[in-house]
Amino acid sequence: MTTAGSAGYGAYRLDGLPARVTIHEVGPRDGLQNEAAIVPVEVKAEFVARLARAGLTRIETTSFVHPKWVPQLADAAELLDRLEPAPGVRYPVLVPNERGLDRALERGVTEIAIFGSATETFARRNLNQGLESQFAMFAPVVERALRHGMKVRAYLSMCFGDPWEGAVPVEQVVRAGVRLLDLGCFELSLGDTIGVGTPGHVAALLDGFAAAGVGPERLAVHFHDTYGQALANTLAALTKGVTVVDASAGGLGGCPYAESATGNLATEDLVWMLDGLGVETGVDLTSLVETSVWLADRLGRPSVSRVVRALGPADAGGSD
Ligand code: HMG
Ligand code: MG
Repeated sequence: MTTAGSAGYGAYRLDGLPARVTIHEVGPRDGLQNEAAIVPVEVKAEFVARLARAGLTRIETTSFVHPKWVPQLADAAELLDRLEPAPGVRYPVLVPNERGLDRALERGVTEIAIFGSATETFARRNLNQGLESQFAMFAPVVERALRHGMKVRAYLSMCFGDPWEGAVPVEQVVRAGVRLLDLGCFELSLGDTIGVGTPGHVAALLDGFAAAGVGPERLAVHFHDTYGQALANTLAALTKGVTVVDASAGGLGGCPYAESATGNLATEDLVWMLDGLGVETGVDLTSLVETSVWLADRLGRPSVSRVVRALGPADAGGSD
């Protein structure tokens, strides 16, 4: 006999975990920005709608970045025009600069995310800015977005290591993160862009933020699963009080400007673990797996999520 989720085998709590976790779904943005092929806008719109039906309440939909930098998301405006917002669901978009904010405002967006770097090299490669000058680019964006009543999230990339600079000291990450929060962002998502972090490093970074006066209620975690550490790192973050976790349906993802960045933590793998721990997410695993199987067929390649592979049909998306 098979069961649709881990809770079918019993839910066993671990001490110190939150009762509920909010999943910040990044598949349509972080996932599709890294696809070799450009996914048709109607497929993206259906993907977002299916994610909402599966119970995800924060769906990062697209980016208003330069279309030459990320051609995969050049259809951002058209995608938003096609969306039929579901009640209770938030659809944040990435915005790097004032031009991006103008474009988001034109489309009636109510929530954005800026995305900074903890290292000089990645700030230059991803934003065409220096580590210091990125804050001057973001400051007027956040200020104007808040004036328009928007919510503004911040990302910080390369929090655990950088492919060009190697190890990134905790103090350097905390300094950059605090500056992003001080601009007026409601939450800071700590990005392991290339997936090199390990659980003790996660705990040390969260301790570093706590020592600087930033508690886990203002932090989210964003793990790429390059070295298979994303779930272990997530569990470490949850034991430290974090309750917002970024994940990508089917494990889609990466970053076109970071060498060796592969997919995000798969949302299905996260939900499987949280269901088994008795931690509520509001996400229906069966419906989410169906969505990733549907998308894998459209992309013509199988999902990398272990749970999608275990629960979905053997031939979803073709063979590897
Ligand atoms: P730039 O070339 O320095 O821009 O790019 P500029 O300000 O010099 O302007 C040059 C031209 O671009 C101008 O047009 C602007 O209007 C136009 P012209 O006057 O020459 O005709 N322009 C724009 N057009 C459309 N939308 C815009 C925009 N801005 C300027 N927003 C820029 C600077 C920031 C725009 C560029 O570097 C860029 O688009 N970067 C985005 C890269 C990106 O999206 N990376 C992936 C997301 S980050 C990530 O994945 C990590 C994360 O997941 C967390 C983690 O894993 O760690 C979040
Ligand atoms: Mg990412």
